[in-house]
Amino acid sequence: MTHFLDISNTETGDIRAMLDRAAAMKAARAGRPKGTPDDETPLAGRMVALIFEKPSTRTRISFDVGARQMGAETMVLSGADMQLGHGETIADTARVLSRYVDLIMIRTFEEDTLHEMAEYADVPVINGLTNQSHPCQIIADVMTYEEHRGPIADARVTWCGDGNNVFASFAHAAGRLGFDLTFSGPAQLDPEDAPMRFAAQAGRPVRIERDAATAVEGANLVVADTWVSMHDSQTARERRHNLLRPYQVNAALMAHAADDALFMHCLPAHREEEATSEVMDGPHSVIFDEAENRLHAQKAVMRWCLGV
Ligand code: CP
Repeated sequence: MTHFLDISNTETGDIRAMLDRAAAMKAARAGRPKGTPDDETPLAGRMVALIFEKPSTRTRISFDVGARQMGAETMVLSGADMQLGHGETIADTARVLSRYVDLIMIRTFEEDTLHEMAEYADVPVINGLTNQSHPCQIIADVMTYEEHRGPIADARVTWCGDGNNVFASFAHAAGRLGFDLTFSGPAQLDPEDAPMRFAAQAGRPVRIERDAATAVEGANLVVADTWVSMHDSQTARERRHNLLRPYQVNAALMAHAADDALFMHCLPAHREEEATSEVMDGPHSVIFDEAENRLHAQKAVMRWCLGV
């Protein structure tokens, strides 16, 4: 069974194959209406379940559209509407869904839920975000970097803000694809140990730099993310804002990056908080290419999982 659970447990060659296929599929569709199928429909006759225990715009729509472009039928399910939200075990849910569908994408809270779904499902499972990781986002981010600037290997990437789930997947990607990653944020919001250990063991230890301007100096890519994630309580909001204010990506901070640096944000953004509109809509920004590439990257992920 070929699950896509994390970048850390996906081989570099497989990630590279997905990136190449995503780019080729994007090129093949250039200018086509979004609702038309691809020339090749390798998912024809397949049923894809998209399960969301948390809100989503990009992940939900890009998986749904992508699966349909490849010929699949889809069903978008909310965890709360399923028995999953009313006490049925993940293991039983996985075994039942496997009798109906060919592929499961799940956005959930804890990584354990994702792993239990994968353990008991007889069909591939894709991680559509957990509290700990967001690998589909980072496949799209690497794709976006490479379509603008070429190979990401040895590029200097600086993350400004919270050491959250998206950062963790960036750390996994740094280890797998060999780029230099700097984390710049307050010590109270440092990344978890596991992704930092993974990058270090892969020979790409993440640099920690508390001063944002120093961290961004000469960077090829600057990344920001929301200061309050879906799983953070509202009571944490004010504390996080106070801690993270020095890490806002604004024009003054971007001026420290390389002249041709890119700016990314996985969205949704809180404009004028983690990044200013001047940067988000400015010449360095590729945020909407990044959002579009969720579609192409995930199509490649789905094909890889199904071996088609
Ligand atoms: N970036 C991202 O995963 O967006 P959604 O939460 O809207 O899916």
